[in-house]
Amino acid sequence: MRTEPRRTGHCQLAVASALLPGLVFVACHPSLETSPHCQRRGLVARSVTVDTGFEGAAVEVMRIAGNLVQLCLLPDGGGRHPKPKTETGPSSGGRHPGQWFYFRASELTKGELYQFQLDVSGARAWRSYKGYEVCTSYTGHHWCRCLGTLYDSGARILLWNVTAEASSCFFAYFEPYGLGQLESLLREAADAGAERRTMGRTTDGRSIDALCFPPGLLQTGREPAGEPTVVWITCRQHAAETQASFFAEGVVQSVLSEPLPLSLAIVLVPNMNPDGSARGHTRENAQGVDLNREWRPKADYSQNGRSPEVSAVQAAMLDTGVDVHLDVHGDEAADSAYSYPGLPRFRAPDHVAQLFDELEEELHSRSGGFYMPRPGSGSARTAAFWTGTQFGALSLTLEMPYKDSEPTKACSKSCRRLGSIAVDAIRSLGPRLGRFRRSRTRP
Ligand SMILES: *[C@@H]1O[C@H](CO)[C@@H](O)[C@H](O)[C@H]1NC(C)=O
Repeated sequence: MRTEPRRTGHCQLAVASALLPGLVFVACHPSLETSPHCQRRGLVARSVTVDTGFEGAAVEVMRIAGNLVQLCLLPDGGGRHPKPKTETGPSSGGRHPGQWFYFRASELTKGELYQFQLDVSGARAWRSYKGYEVCTSYTGHHWCRCLGTLYDSGARILLWNVTAEASSCFFAYFEPYGLGQLESLLREAADAGAERRTMGRTTDGRSIDALCFPPGLLQTGREPAGEPTVVWITCRQHAAETQASFFAEGVVQSVLSEPLPLSLAIVLVPNMNPDGSARGHTRENAQGVDLNREWRPKADYSQNGRSPEVSAVQAAMLDTGVDVHLDVHGDEAADSAYSYPGLPRFRAPDHVAQLFDELEEELHSRSGGFYMPRPGSGSARTAAFWTGTQFGALSLTLEMPYKDSEPTKACSKSCRRLGSIAVDAIRSLGPRLGRFRRSRTRP
């Protein structure tokens, strides 16, 4: 347990005081609820309310008693989405346990202490809340950590206290990244000359968009002379891993601030799971499917429509070919960013394994410890496995932490910075990456 708060003054938020309601609050504070003064005037003390009626929100209220708010996690879909259309795929589909939470507490009295208790026993990785601190914001724009967040591992409850600085306050597992922010990013990049392509549509009818630097790559599908190394960066197959959206912003910043050499092209998918993002899911799309388990070689899910997101991206990848693939995620338990190769080392060609090591070293040395190499490999149903197998690509799954404990410093800024660093690292390896490219023909 911490005895001293770290980074005091980290969260000096400018907050407009809630003036008029404040007067009522002062007069009728909960502890004065029964005072003759309040009763005489017909004023009833307000109690805290918890709102989840907005994009990406997810939590269930158990009990609110005075200044104590007791909550629990919702499973993905909250039990409300329909079962997947078919059960023939390798992923069982259905409700995955949640880990993501995002809500607003309102009707707070400035200066009052509020206690929050979140039951995380339903989480898919409840152990990983150890050493984790809740993200909070009064504005919805600037986020900081609730210093002194405790985790009771026996009861599996996350506990934090807040002295209210405004009448409402947001809390989330990590800094949220909404579809409005996604739209701004896509528009900003397109205005600056990138090509914005809609590769397909989700179950809820949202577009699955990619940014191509330089433009024209997805349009033509041709094989021009001096064909560039094609780098795919896919973000946020898992809705709650908003780190990946900030990473995407870093990629865009880097490419717009320094044009890519002619030998390099990047296709960026900033959000592969907009339905899950809007619904406040941890992993699933609208049909209850974990997208990063839908890439098994030879399987064709385009027929049954379980995961139109994966089908759309696969089709576009087959058009352009893939030389390098970064699939970007967040890891609940991690203390730092890391990645693992799409293909296990014994299956990857030597030159791919060698380039993976070099890319790791670049990420590690450029990120000042935010990225730490560590051994590991992923499932055969993941995107990086598929691109590794299908194209012989240098493919990897890149993970970023939720925790802000030393030395991690996981926040939107560090994730954005890692996105820029990844592009720099790819630039520096550039000429060597194209060496192992395979011909681009549909199988
Ligand atoms: C919150 O405040 C209460 C009352 O002061 C205290 O008993 C409790 O330990 C605090 N919890 C945390 C997580 O700091």
